[in-house]
Amino acid sequence: MIDTPGRVRIWDLPTRLFHWVLTAMVVFSFTTGKLGGEWLQWHFRSGYVILALLLFRLFWGFAGSCYARFTSFVPSPARIWRTLRSTDTAPPLVNAGHNEVGTVSVYALLLVLLAQGLSGLFSNDGTFNEGPWVRWVSEATSNRLSALHYYNHWLMVALVAVHVAAIAFYLLIRRQDLITPMLTGDKLGVAALAAEDGSAIRLRAFALAGLAVAIVYVLVIL
Ligand code: HEM
Ligand code: HEM
Repeated sequence: MIDTPGRVRIWDLPTRLFHWVLTAMVVFSFTTGKLGGEWLQWHFRSGYVILALLLFRLFWGFAGSCYARFTSFVPSPARIWRTLRSTDTAPPLVNAGHNEVGTVSVYALLLVLLAQGLSGLFSNDGTFNEGPWVRWVSEATSNRLSALHYYNHWLMVALVAVHVAAIAFYLLIRRQDLITPMLTGDKLGVAALAAEDGSAIRLRAFALAGLAVAIVYVLVIL
């Protein structure tokens, strides 16, 4: 059913929770990584939470509500180019899910975070702190992956900066508030299919989040 322009649910609760818990954990991981020393034990824990979140998002990309599914945001160079060239300051149509440029930013953020989390598992700080998978590789490999963990974190910072700048650009120049929908789930003025966000889909998310935590626990912590 296509709803008439008005208030339409776009982001289901699990996607919104995923986003804001991920944001908080990335800030916490960055801070504890920089503090180093004893803080690295907390850094490891928040890294595991991020890995579980990413695994959950992978599941949700196939099992979530319509706009959370990967099939609803497939990168297309032609459409990205068209969106970038558009000079409309107030486009008549508001995008229902992620727009073309947002799509690229979402995949880039998810991949760079995955690389950060996985390389962390093999990293060492040159003293007594080392990720749980260091024991599976040689010292030279662990050092190389520690270097990757270091350089990749700047790439992550750059992508987050671009992400936040793009959201600010949409708010200030295009006059499109993307932040409120990520908080409340609803977009105003869209003529689109409403995303499913009832108790059944939330229960599914809960089960998949539990599965993601269990997998990370068994593979990484146990
Ligand atoms: C460490 C910081 C952050 C990270 C890693 C991050 C990551 C992400 C990811 C992965 C998505 C895709 C959501 C999904 O489909 O699962 C997303 C979307 C979004 N983020 Fe962030 N985010 C961060 C900070 C922020 C901040 C500070 C804001 C608000 C100012 C924000 C606003 C949004 C909005 C509005 C969307 C939806 C964009 C759209 O409509 O296409 N994010 N973010
Ligand atoms: C995706 C989440 C993660 C983020 C955002 C992150 C970020 C960082 C940052 C910013 C640093 C400090 C780099 C520096 O300035 O020296 C760092 C260091 C470190 N991280 Fe992570 N990290 C993450 C996940 C992990 C995980 C899962 C582990 C291991 C379980 C880990 C292990 C380490 C270690 C051992 C160091 C110290 C490396 C050194 O001193 O050379 N990290 N991380």
